[in-house]
Parts: sequence; C-alpha cells; structure tokens
Amino acid sequence: MAQPITCVEDLRVLAKRRVPRMFYEYADGGAWSESTYRANEADFRHVYLRQRVAVDMSNRTLATTMVGQPVTMPVALAPVGLTGMQHADGEILAARAAAAAGVAFTLSTMSICSIEDVAENSNAPFWFQLYVMKDREFIDRLIDRAKSAGCAALMLTLDLQIMGQRHKDVKNGLTAPPRLTLANIANIAVRPRWWAGMLGTKRRAFGNIVGHVKGVTDMRALSAWTAEQFDPTLNWDDVKRIRDRWGGKLILKGILDPIDAELAAQTGADAIVVSNHGGRQLDGAMSSIAALPAVARAVGSRIEVLMDGGIRSGQDVIKALAFGAKGVLIGRAYVYGLGAMGEAGVTRALEIIRKELDVTMALCGLRDVRQVNADTLAKPHPQFAA
Ligand SMILES: Cc1cc2nc3c(=O)[nH]c(=O)nc-3n(C[C@H](O)[C@H](O)[C@H](O)COP(=O)(O)O)c2cc1C
Repeated sequence: MAQPITCVEDLRVLAKRRVPRMFYEYADGGAWSESTYRANEADFRHVYLRQRVAVDMSNRTLATTMVGQPVTMPVALAPVGLTGMQHADGEILAARAAAAAGVAFTLSTMSICSIEDVAENSNAPFWFQLYVMKDREFIDRLIDRAKSAGCAALMLTLDLQIMGQRHKDVKNGLTAPPRLTLANIANIAVRPRWWAGMLGTKRRAFGNIVGHVKGVTDMRALSAWTAEQFDPTLNWDDVKRIRDRWGGKLILKGILDPIDAELAAQTGADAIVVSNHGGRQLDGAMSSIAALPAVARAVGSRIEVLMDGGIRSGQDVIKALAFGAKGVLIGRAYVYGLGAMGEAGVTRALEIIRKELDVTMALCGLRDVRQVNADTLAKPHPQFAA
C-alpha cells in the first residue's frame, strides 16, 4: 500500500511523478542560481519558536481576517501562472478547494482558466492578480472584468516589470499547451493521469488573454505578445491610476524593501505582500522571511502586511505571523498538491498546514492565532543572532 501523505514534501514528490517535467520544473524552480529560491525555505530554519508548557490549550481558533475578509486561517493561495497546466482545470479546482477550506484563492493574470470561467465554476469570491502590460486598454478591460466577476480584491504585482531568467524553463522550451516535440511526447506519455485530464478539457491556453487581445487568436501570436508585453515603465503613478479604476480592496505584491513599503503605504492600498516572487525574479535578493521584520516595523501599523515565499508548513506560518505578518500566501505548497492529486491535493495541502499551525500554536502556549506576536519567538542562539 502507498505511504500516507503526511507533509507538503510528500505532495511535491508525488507531483514530480505525475506532472510533465516542463510544468513541474516551472513550479520547482527559481531565477538564475536559485539562491533566493532556496533561501526562502532555508531561512525559516534559523527562526526558533518559544515552547511554553502547562498552559490550557483547549478551545483553540485559527480564524482571523485577511484584507478585511473573514478566513478560517491566515493562509491564502498565491497567484500562480499556468496552474491549469499542473492539472487539467487547475485554477477552478484550486478555487473550489480554497472556498471549501474557507481561505482566499488568487487567480493569476497568466492563468489557463479565465476570470469568468473561475467565477462561474467556483462558489466564493476570489482575488484577482494583475500584471501591468504595455497594452493599457487590455489592463483596463481586465480590471473591469475582475470587477464584473465579483472579485473581492485586486492584487497588483510590482516585481515583474521584466522577467528574471529561469534556466529550466528555457531548457524545457516552456509553452502552454506544450509543443509536441519528441522529448515532450516521451515525457508526457508516461504521465497518463495528466494527459487524460488535458484531453478532457478545452482549457489549455491563457484564458484571460486569448480572444481578449486584438490579433491574439492562437498560440504563436500569444507567445509573441506576452514576450514583449510586460511593461518596464510601471511606476507609482500607474499604481494610483489602477487603484482609482479598480476602486475596491487593493493588495500590492512584491515588496521587499522598507522604502518601497513606505511608498506602497502612501498609495492608500489595503495591504502589501512581502515577496520576492518565490525566488523567481531577483536572484540574490533577501529571503522573504528575512526581509519581513524590517518591513513590518516600518509600515505594519498603517497597512496590512502579508508575506509569501518558502512557506511549506504551519510552523513557517507562525514564524511569519510572529515577525508581523497578518497572514501568508502559499504558492508551491498548493501547486504540488494540485499536481499530485488535483482538487483533493490542494485540500490536503491546506489540511496539512492547518493541522501543523494548530498544534504548533498550542505547543507555543497559545489558543488564538491572533495572539501570535514577537513573544512567540525564542531569542536566537548568539550564533544565529544578526
Ligand atoms: C509556478 C509559479 C508561477 C507563479 N506565477 C505568478 C503569477 O502569475 N503572478 C504573481 O504575482 N506571482 C506568481 N508567482 C509567485 C507566487 O505568487 C508567490 O509569490 C510565490 O510562489 C511564493 O513562494 P512559494 O511558492 O515558496 O510559496 C508564481 C510562483 C510560482 C511558483
């Protein structure tokens, strides 16, 4: 009998077996040397929790709010491009799993299932992540589409005006859907669950783009369009313009520096996400958990601070909260679940993190996740002190 799945790492191992290499490595990869990607996970290990004993640990709660929205735990699903290539209809399945778990799902601009499709096929309002493209009319239409679909928040990503190179994607010739080269066919052929799912769905290209941009009707036109569309001129005036057009809850994602956090707070946005894009952009940047304390100190009293990068367990979530985050986003942790087992895998990833978070909180002597603060951390051994 197969071993039970007990942690996010088990889901990663299963996803690696079930998802074609090109898409598995798109998720399990970072920019250039991948040093920031690795640091995101590794730096959590230098943070120590404070164990407390003989404290009443009954009647615990993980419920809180994120961006004003009630959630059953301070964890949301991060925007992940091409989620529908990890598993057929991936965005819809992840949105459903998140809704059932009582947490927020964020749909990427670069999703396979479109905004309207996810809204029709899931049962809770989700957040929409926006990339700013040179085609501003397209961006305006995207904002309006997210509004019409009832999205509860707009998450504007600021750290991808230009793409960091990910060697694996270049080597694998990443496209969606995959080009049918001999190597790809051989790799996909031995992953029958994946291709059977893909044959059974029509959702195989960038749903938010194809049919919504003049001249982009097929894959060739689409790759040419996206390659030159990310806008290197993006600046704080654009952020304000987008804020005004959207008019709802606004989250600014990709802040790592306290000065940028200050500028972000001045826009009147509702929240920021301390993030280095999962180590996929500036290789050599600080890990998110290392960057978080200074940002939270600088702006935490004026704007909600969220963080992402390297969260693979409930212990990681508590450490981020202790450093001043109101909540976290998870990317790969749920993507591995999706690739491993579809909707059930996303549900499993969320259950694993919820259970770990709950027990960890109890062992720290706390009963309410909103009580987690700097006192939840042990003083580091001098060897690890900054
Ligand atoms: C495969 C993949 C695709 C991503 N696509 C997007 C995207 O389309 N938009 C975005 O803002 N962030 C994107 N991100 C970054 C995530 O939103 C998030 O910042 C990151 O995954 C957090 O790190 P973690 O994966 O270690 O949890 C992507 C991340 C991954 C792994």
